[in-house]
Amino acid sequence: MSAFLPVQLDTTRLTLRFLDDNDTAAIYALFSDPAAVRYWSCPAWQEMAQAHDYIAQTLQHYADGSALRWALVNGEQAVVGVVTLYHFDRQNARCDVGYMLARPYWGQRYMQEALKAVLDYGFGTLRLHRIEADIHPDNAASVRLLQGLHFRLEGHLRERWFVDGEISDSLILGLLARDWRSAN
Ligand SMILES: CC(C)(COP(=O)(O)OP(=O)(O)OC[C@H]1O[C@@H](n2cnc3c(N)ncnc32)[C@H](O)[C@@H]1OP(=O)(O)O)[C@@H](O)C(=O)NCCC(=O)NCCS
Repeated sequence: MSAFLPVQLDTTRLTLRFLDDNDTAAIYALFSDPAAVRYWSCPAWQEMAQAHDYIAQTLQHYADGSALRWALVNGEQAVVGVVTLYHFDRQNARCDVGYMLARPYWGQRYMQEALKAVLDYGFGTLRLHRIEADIHPDNAASVRLLQGLHFRLEGHLRERWFVDGEISDSLILGLLARDWRSAN
């Protein structure tokens, strides 16, 4: 697979840009907040080394073309979240989307704004046919966010994740390129 070269996406309030080593502290702040990771696939981070690993893996994913991750930067130059396109299946033109927003910024439609730009890029420049998301069934904000972006609820998979001694189901939501185009 070929490498992903840096891509910047601009929205009204945010700049979406590739991550680098300077983002380590901001990424740690995001993923060490227990409330933010309540429905995530791992427990809250407790060591800065986890943020270093995350950045190193992100850079590796850019280099090997396996995932695209953007930092969401606001007008004050603060990193307020991340969005990732991953699990690329080139043959079938699909991937998954994941996202995380820092708690002070919830409920202000920042993620909706960021995902619109990422979906435009995915269905436009990347020519994807389908984008999927795997959501904890109790994550009402995330389900609502995706349904507002025209994702459809397509499945409920039982007992798919073990996190911190708790087993949880997944809701699978999917969006097709034609759904996105006809809605925009
Ligand atoms: C889920 C998350 C991304 C939502 O981002 P956000 O910027 O706060 O959401 P938005 O403001 O864009 O809102 C999108 C929709 O969700 C709704 N919403 C937001 N918070 C909500 C909540 N707590 N409960 C129910 N609906 C909620 C909004 O009303 C809006 O719907 P509407 O357009 O129909 O009114 C954010 O809360 C987050 O990062 N949480 C922690 C990490 C996480 O759970 N990531 C997703 C894992 S898959």
